Amino acid sequence: MRSETPDDRDPRRLSPHPVLTAYYRDEAERRRFLTRLFDDTAPQYDRITDLMSCGSGAWYRRYALRRAGLTEGMTVLDVAVGTGAFASAAATIVGPSGVVVGVDPSTGMLAQAGKKLGIRLSQGVAEALPFRDGHFDFSTMGYAVRHVADLRRVFAEHFRVLRRGGTLLIADFSRPRSWIGLGLARFYLGVVVSWMARLGPGSKEAQLLVRYCWDTLEHLGTPETIVTTMTSCGFVNIRRVGWFGILSEYIGRKP
Ligand SMILES: C[S@@+](CC[C@H](N)C(=O)[O-])C[C@H]1O[C@@H](n2cnc3c(N)ncnc32)[C@H](O)[C@@H]1O
Repeated sequence: MRSETPDDRDPRRLSPHPVLTAYYRDEAERRRFLTRLFDDTAPQYDRITDLMSCGSGAWYRRYALRRAGLTEGMTVLDVAVGTGAFASAAATIVGPSGVVVGVDPSTGMLAQAGKKLGIRLSQGVAEALPFRDGHFDFSTMGYAVRHVADLRRVFAEHFRVLRRGGTLLIADFSRPRSWIGLGLARFYLGVVVSWMARLGPGSKEAQLLVRYCWDTLEHLGTPETIVTTMTSCGFVNIRRVGWFGILSEYIGRKP
C-alpha cells in the first residue's frame, strides 16, 4: 500500500465524495475507518447485500457483466473484490478456459472470498494495482467508487492493466435525482434495511455499514463525474446504464 503524503490529507482530493466528518476528519482517518469497517463486517457482508438487493445481487452482477461484453475464456480482474460477488459471477461466465483474479485491501473480505472461491486473490488498493500492464481482457469494480480517494488514479490503473481493446465495467449506486426516488431510497436503505440489519449476528457493525452506505450515497458525485474521469483516463465508447435512478453501470473500452 502506498504511504501517506501531505497531499493525501487535502479533502479536495477526495473525489467524488467529500470528507464525511461524522466518521473521520481526513484521508488518513478515512482509510483507517474503512479498513476497520470492511474487516469487521466481512462475515455479515453477504447477508447485508442480500437484504439491500432483495436477493437479486448474484443475478444482477451476472447480467451486468454479460451486457458489458464478458464472455467465455476471458482474463478478468475484479478490483474491490470484497467477498467475491462480482468475481464469482465472472467465474461462471468465463468458465474453465478463463481466469478471474480479485484484489482488495481488506484482510477480512479476502478471507471470506477465499472460503468461497478458488481464484487468485491479492491484497492491494485500486490506486496502485499489483499487476503488470496490459494483462487483462476485462476489469470490473463493484460498489467501491465511493471508497477511493482519487478516481482519476483508479481509472488510470484500470486502463494500465487492461490490454488494448479491453473493457472496464464500473457498477455502483447513484444518487436518485427525483425527490420521490431519493425519498424511496432513503426509506428503503435508511429505515427498512437498517432495521433488518439489526437482526442476526454482528448487528452493530452491519448497521454501521448500512448507515455509512447511505451517507456516502447522499454525498456521492454525479454520474457525469465518473464518465468525465473515465474519458480523461483514455477510455472510449463510454456508456452509462441506469437502473431506477439508484444503480448505474459505466462501461468503457481501452482503444
Ligand atoms: C461495498 S464492498 C463491494 C464488494 C464487491 N465488489 C461487491 O460487489 O459486493 C467495497 C469493497 O471495496 C474495498 N475497498 C475499499 N477501499 C478500497 C480501495 N482503495 N481499493 C480497492 N478496494 C477498496 C473494501 O475493502 C470492500 O471490500
